[in-house]
Amino acid sequence: LRMVLIGPPGAGKGTQAPNLVNKFGAYHLSTGDMLRAQVSQGTPLGAEAKKIMDKGGLVSDEIMVGMIKNELSTNPVCQKSGFILDGFPRTIPQAEKLDEMLQDLKTPLQKAVELKVDDELLVSRITGRLIHPASGRSYHKMFNPPKQDMKDDVTGEPLIQRSDDNAEALKKRLDSYHKQTEPIVDYYKKKNIWAGIDAAQNPTKVWGDIIKCLGF
Ligand code: AP5
Ligand code: ZN
Repeated sequence: LRMVLIGPPGAGKGTQAPNLVNKFGAYHLSTGDMLRAQVSQGTPLGAEAKKIMDKGGLVSDEIMVGMIKNELSTNPVCQKSGFILDGFPRTIPQAEKLDEMLQDLKTPLQKAVELKVDDELLVSRITGRLIHPASGRSYHKMFNPPKQDMKDDVTGEPLIQRSDDNAEALKKRLDSYHKQTEPIVDYYKKKNIWAGIDAAQNPTKVWGDIIKCLGF
């Protein structure tokens, strides 16, 4: 399976991607997780990216395209079983570059699924989110609490709040989404690979609709 998950911050991209991985064996490529890994490793790119991410802006197309190109052309799981792109592409130039890359690899994109949620719902999702930094697994204080308070279900390691998960940064992230990312919806509609899903429903219903729109 080769697909893109599109949606505003808190839409459920990172929540649904593991379901797709379990079902299809595809690789979950989250550019947000990749950038956060750079931040925790203390690389120069991480330091640069953190400033932008904490303010809710977008890292440059050049850097992001380079990261994805590297993964798609060297990651054996992507080549064998496909990929779930989460957080990329985020601009029209990124979408165009992705098409070029996949054309060169002779593995075109099969589906672009948009998780649709109104902005008002996203504030509580984002401000209540907890993550396990090493795996990217996410929980929610109320909607999806971990089994043990503030601990990851799988490893028992501590959960943290993302530094960009505050109301102020969220406003900017939503703004970036509507201005720079939403235009890619039309881009994929024109290519006839788009499907839209009501992602305000509970996670199980959202998952059911994703499976339906993929034709399973
Ligand atoms: P990124 O990490 O991609 O953040 P984002 O797009 O803002 O998306 P989120 O991770 O916040 O949302 P999600 O849809 O994954 O929600 P989740 O499933 O966790 O990017 C971070 C930053 O990196 C960007 O701002 C940018 O600076 C930079 N960046 C990344 N990629 C880039 C690119 N390509 N170009 C340039 N810059 C880039 O769910 C949220 C919460 O809600 C969780 O607590 C969850 O438990 C809960 N939840 C999920 N589904 C439901 C449901 N159905 N009902 C109730 N609760 C739910
Ligand atoms: Zn995410």
